[in-house]
Amino acid sequence: MTLEELDKKYILQTYARDYTNFVKGVGSTLYDENGRDYIDFASGIAVNSVGHGNEKLTSAICEQAKKIIHISNLQVIEPQAKLAQRMVELSGYDMGVFFANSGAEANEGAIKIARKYGETKFDKKRYKVITLEHSFHGRTITTVKATGQESFHTPNFSPYPAGFSYEKSIEDVYKAIDDETVAVLIELVQGEGGVQPFEKKEIQKLAAYLKERNVLLIVDEVQTGVYRTGEFLASNLYEIEPDIVTLAKGLGGGVPIGAVMTTHKDVLSAGDHGSTFGGNYLSTAAGLAVLDILSELYESGALDETLLYFEQKLQDIAAKYENLFEKEVGLGLMRGLRAKNADIQGSVIKNSLKEGLVVLKAGRNTVRFLPSLTISKNEIDEGFKRFEAAVSSL
Ligand SMILES: Cc1ncc(COP(=O)(O)O)c(C=O)c1O
Repeated sequence: MTLEELDKKYILQTYARDYTNFVKGVGSTLYDENGRDYIDFASGIAVNSVGHGNEKLTSAICEQAKKIIHISNLQVIEPQAKLAQRMVELSGYDMGVFFANSGAEANEGAIKIARKYGETKFDKKRYKVITLEHSFHGRTITTVKATGQESFHTPNFSPYPAGFSYEKSIEDVYKAIDDETVAVLIELVQGEGGVQPFEKKEIQKLAAYLKERNVLLIVDEVQTGVYRTGEFLASNLYEIEPDIVTLAKGLGGGVPIGAVMTTHKDVLSAGDHGSTFGGNYLSTAAGLAVLDILSELYESGALDETLLYFEQKLQDIAAKYENLFEKEVGLGLMRGLRAKNADIQGSVIKNSLKEGLVVLKAGRNTVRFLPSLTISKNEIDEGFKRFEAAVSSL
């Protein structure tokens, strides 16, 4: 049986999969089973934050695996406590951390914290959560309902939990808030929805308004977090003080980990929430190594240089191929080219892979770029050379 046949026979077919068989990665270069190389501008959808085969990360994982991989959360876990300390210090917020295994699970935790806050802190229960249209918050029944895209709310999985509503714009959020609203859940740069950042001033105004009314601001940083936008959190870049932040993707550099951080440290108590695997030795040792690597990159100014270099290259391409792309969108190393239509988007992604470059889709017409934060200038140059080869034939 070929690998494709094996996959089709035994894997539930929930993804529209490509069948290139990657067997190795070095930095931001992937190799398939025939030894062909591909530049990786996707980093596993913003997961491989420090690239493939990073020496510091792989050693940390191996060393930890040889000692202890997992002990339950009924025991204290040293790398978990240290990672939480590191995250809190880097964020600059006075927060406590709960560790989970994925973005959806982190958002579930955030919603639970908000719901309990709404139940216990007010005379009249508050439970409603407002999210934005085109948002994406996960695939569990609750987070799919929190996602502001009607196509995800198919009757196939109904009934969904009550209490979620979606607004077209930040301006509409103000009008939607009532005395039962407990939280607003938002991505500062909508990732899956089309790499669309919100205006900093608009977000700051909203944050101040919510604070005045004791409505929680939950920032979903599953994709924007861990230096993706150039700061540790996009919330730092936007200079706001959220009540709750969720993280996942880039935090473990590929080892599954999710986290919810909150300033409301007293809301959850023993027994309110839990996770068997969340924050185990292996994933938190990986998280510590990732933060060591990335905070050094940030402090040295090298991350900033990479962001600017990548942005310039993308702007050049957008200007050169105005016939295909409307504009360049995004922030930091979370970037996109808004294609003139979905056909162009599809062809660009397919052609790129043929040329040896992995890029992603987002929304209905955006070609998305989420390279690792450690990508080299040579890899960026080579990637854009291949990208140009892919688009120039269209
Ligand atoms: C902003 C955001 N939130 C939540 C999720 C869900 O994360 P996971 O797939 O790890 O559950 C994603 C995944 O793409 C995301 O981009």
